Amino acid sequence: MAQPTDNRPGSSPRPRLLDAFCCQGGAGKGYRDAGFEVTGVDKDPQPRYPLAFHQADAIDFIGAFGAGFDFIHASPPCQHDTDCQRIRGNTHPDLIGPTREALNATGRPWAMENVRGAAAKLRNPVMLCGTTFGLETYRHRFFETGGGFTLTPPEHPEHTVPQAKMGRPVPPGYFGQYVGNFSGVQAARDILKVPWMNRDGIRECIPPAYTEWIGRAFLASLAALEVAA
Ligand SMILES: C[S@@+](CC[C@H](N)C(=O)[O-])C[C@H]1O[C@@H](n2cnc3c(N)ncnc32)[C@H](O)[C@@H]1O
Repeated sequence: MAQPTDNRPGSSPRPRLLDAFCCQGGAGKGYRDAGFEVTGVDKDPQPRYPLAFHQADAIDFIGAFGAGFDFIHASPPCQHDTDCQRIRGNTHPDLIGPTREALNATGRPWAMENVRGAAAKLRNPVMLCGTTFGLETYRHRFFETGGGFTLTPPEHPEHTVPQAKMGRPVPPGYFGQYVGNFSGVQAARDILKVPWMNRDGIRECIPPAYTEWIGRAFLASLAALEVAA
């Protein structure tokens, strides 16, 4: 497993963030926009990932190097829990518990994200919705936090726009879901603000606006601690 360059806390002018299970980098891009230096790790090659990248098992990588980062984000695979995968009868390992264990062992603050189908496995998750960030999609995602970091749930605007069926073309006046083998890749790129991604990345991604908000909340909590000290 390749070692990240200098991963000691404080060794970079920007706070360092590990983006575990990074895929094409929806989460990573948001943390970058919040001001972090981001390193992604995924078991598969990710040529579209727009930031520093290591191909490795994410849980092993968190165990080996996680303590050297200022904050860790993890998006363990959600295929185990998504409605569309359940319908197809696909089975995937559930990595939520082992990921939590690895994150807690680092002693660093962290956020772990998943989909509605896995929300019951997350502890006190905060739900984020696209409309909170002015996006024209609902795309609910659930975030558990740990290592001393907590999130205050933001306002969740009422859903007033109808939602197209899962994976179906999006009629005018509807919000799309962009999961499975959805159509309308360019529209999805524009709406989720992920112009570098292909369909494979989009169906998996967190809109960067969500993690930019989480990243800024973490940096604000650090700043508040410094003022109090
Ligand atoms: C839900 S996607 C992550 C989406 C990403 N957070 C985003 O916002 O774009 C999950 C990723 O985990 C990766 N993955 C699955 N098992 C893994 C493992 N054991 N170690 C590292 N990556 C893994 C998959 O290849 C996939 O790219």
